[in-house]
Amino acid sequence: MAHEVKGVIAGGKGAPVSVSTVIVPDPGPGEALVAVQACGVCHTDLHYREGGIGDDFPYLLGHEAAGVVEAVGSDVTGLAAGDFVILNWRAVCGQCRACLRGRPWYCFATHNATQKMTLADGTPLSPALGIGAFAEKTLVAAGQCTKVDPAIRPEVAGLLGCGVMAGLGAALNTAGVGRGDSVAVIGCGGVGDGAILGASLAGARKVIAVDVDDRKLEWARQFGATHTVNSRSADPVEQIKDLTEGNGADVVIEAVGRPETYKQAFYARDLAGTVVLVGVPTPEMQLELPLLDVFGRGGSLKSSWYGDCLPTRDFPMLVDLHLQGRLPLDAFVSETIALDEVEGAFAKMHGGEVLRSVVLL
Ligand SMILES: NC(=O)c1ccc[n+]([C@@H]2O[C@H](COP(=O)([O-])OP(=O)(O)OC[C@H]3O[C@@H](n4cnc5c(N)ncnc54)[C@H](O)[C@@H]3O)[C@@H](O)[C@H]2O)c1
Ligand SMILES: [Zn+2]
Ligand SMILES: [Zn+2]
Repeated sequence: MAHEVKGVIAGGKGAPVSVSTVIVPDPGPGEALVAVQACGVCHTDLHYREGGIGDDFPYLLGHEAAGVVEAVGSDVTGLAAGDFVILNWRAVCGQCRACLRGRPWYCFATHNATQKMTLADGTPLSPALGIGAFAEKTLVAAGQCTKVDPAIRPEVAGLLGCGVMAGLGAALNTAGVGRGDSVAVIGCGGVGDGAILGASLAGARKVIAVDVDDRKLEWARQFGATHTVNSRSADPVEQIKDLTEGNGADVVIEAVGRPETYKQAFYARDLAGTVVLVGVPTPEMQLELPLLDVFGRGGSLKSSWYGDCLPTRDFPMLVDLHLQGRLPLDAFVSETIALDEVEGAFAKMHGGEVLRSVVLL
């Protein structure tokens, strides 16, 4: 029996999102039906709405979610109705060339539900990042559900499903920040603040937050920023160098996704340092750099997909740290909203008024 629920749909490029009826099939083999409890509004949802990710409209948005499993397909093991889960967009296949080489966090053939969710008239929906969780219920691959301690509040847990994990992992996994490193983070939204938190958890001695908005810089401090730079009023490369004995930071994490901020990250890093790009650019963006500088500055230039996380390894561990009071994830939740307030939340995100708006269902 299919389920008729409400969901947030992006119908066409640049058009405001709206709440529509979504038909969610019962789970088939390898699938799970999840009653969504909370789903954060991530900048990637806005990228989808603006056509920056693809042209497969209509999209069912929402992908930073936690909820309770309602039913699983006949062959699913290790997951059952009643389990509290964080949804992930990295259900590893175990068989692609990355998985076979023992690097499943790069998995090139991640699993999603096989059956389509649709609009009431049968139009198939493209769920954002294979999740589609701005909906009362969603259908995912069973591997997209990671069981965690249900003592954590759903609105906090869900954030580990995308942006906060992407930031934490960019620092912890991709950059491999170590005790004593100096780290700068450019862009202090949910992703950048996740990176600040990760750098601080890893024992960085300096964590320099860079943003164009003073409110964001104020918030960055509660996640462990030791210094802040407003790059509207000062040159961030010079400021980061001044704060690091003239050398630049060991690690610079770019969490905006623009050529100019990438260049800042490139030049604000010490010789042989690491740049991690976690912000997502749009298709028309180009980067131009002197090749001699790429060579001469050495080190490594990396991109971080989903913080190189492995949900089964990372989510339960981060939830435990949070429940022990060692990872202040509550501070990411600026407000909780209803399903029909997502469009307004995009405007607040754009205006820098929130870190995360989280839809409660
Ligand atoms: N790599 C991944 O796996 C992954 C996962 C989730 C999100 N993302 C991407 O990360 C980026 C950030 O996402 P978010 O949800 O934190 O967005 P957000 O809108 O909440 O935050 C972006 C921040 O960047 C700041 N900013 C904008 N222009 C700037 C500039 N020129 N210099 C310095 N700061 C600037 C804004 O003031 C804001 O604080 C987006 O591109 C998003 O798509 C990547
Ligand atoms: Zn794989
Ligand atoms: Zn996201």
